[in-house]
Amino acid sequence: MHVIVITNRKGGTAKTTVAVNLAAELAARQLRVLLIDLDSQGHCAVGLGVRVEGASRTVHHLFRDPSARLADVIQETTVSNLSIAPADTLFNHGQGEGNDLRLKQAMADADLALRFDIVIIDTPPSLDALLMNALHAGTRVMVPYVPHHLSFEGVRQLVRVLFPIMTGPNRALKVLGFLPTMASDSFRLHRSVNAAAAGDFGADRLLPAIRNDIKLSEAMGAGRPIRQFAPSSRGAQDFAGLADEVLRRLEMPQPSAAVG
Ligand SMILES: Nc1ncnc2c1ncn2[C@@H]1O[C@H](COP(=O)(O)OP(=O)(O)OP(=O)(O)O)[C@@H](O)[C@H]1O
Ligand SMILES: [Mg+2]
Repeated sequence: MHVIVITNRKGGTAKTTVAVNLAAELAARQLRVLLIDLDSQGHCAVGLGVRVEGASRTVHHLFRDPSARLADVIQETTVSNLSIAPADTLFNHGQGEGNDLRLKQAMADADLALRFDIVIIDTPPSLDALLMNALHAGTRVMVPYVPHHLSFEGVRQLVRVLFPIMTGPNRALKVLGFLPTMASDSFRLHRSVNAAAAGDFGADRLLPAIRNDIKLSEAMGAGRPIRQFAPSSRGAQDFAGLADEVLRRLEMPQPSAAVG
């Protein structure tokens, strides 16, 4: 079971948009996907039109009740093959302090590995215990960033947090890639920023960009993944391309996507 952590310390870099739409795209390829929303903004459930019934049915419940099981907070979504462990929008992020391994423990459930092929974890834009829990539970990290020249500092800060974890408590964690999001169509700008990113992170670590597309915002507002909301949009095309590349990097077979 691969566990992909979507993270960037900076807010608004499309982490949630990527988590929801990549999850839906992989689910359409017959992979069984679990989306875990660690961000108490709760936007993953919104983006999938999922209603959350009570604090005890959220992933954050794990941090309040040491005996709570992840399986008990997982709900199905209207997207087939896609389940969610939604966030508690009233969770105070300080409550997670003290145990960086809680999520990892909860995920060590044998049933979970039988139920899902891929887990995607959306994280809050902060460097707190919830992010640490995600990084200790993950096997891959994906960093969406908005490609302009000022955006790299946040990514560099994240890399400084990642490195000690990857070389210490979680040696299974690898970088899946850096993902340019809301990328401009301006070829020159795109090229110059990409060259800078390739210099910083290594060209082979860059993932194919998600371009700017207002339809991605509209889809989120409508509570549907882009592949259902606007299947022929640029956003839908870009997420299909991203899913191809992710499966290639994970060395997983690539079944073709179901329609709808
Ligand atoms: N490719 C895109 N084109 C246009 N708008 C986008 C794109 N990706 C994301 N957005 C919009 O940008 C805003 C921020 O996206 P999102 O909420 O996914 O970022 P985030 O990193 O999860 O934010 P936060 O740090 O608050 O969790 C949203 O309004 C979203 O609809
Ligand atoms: Mg978010």
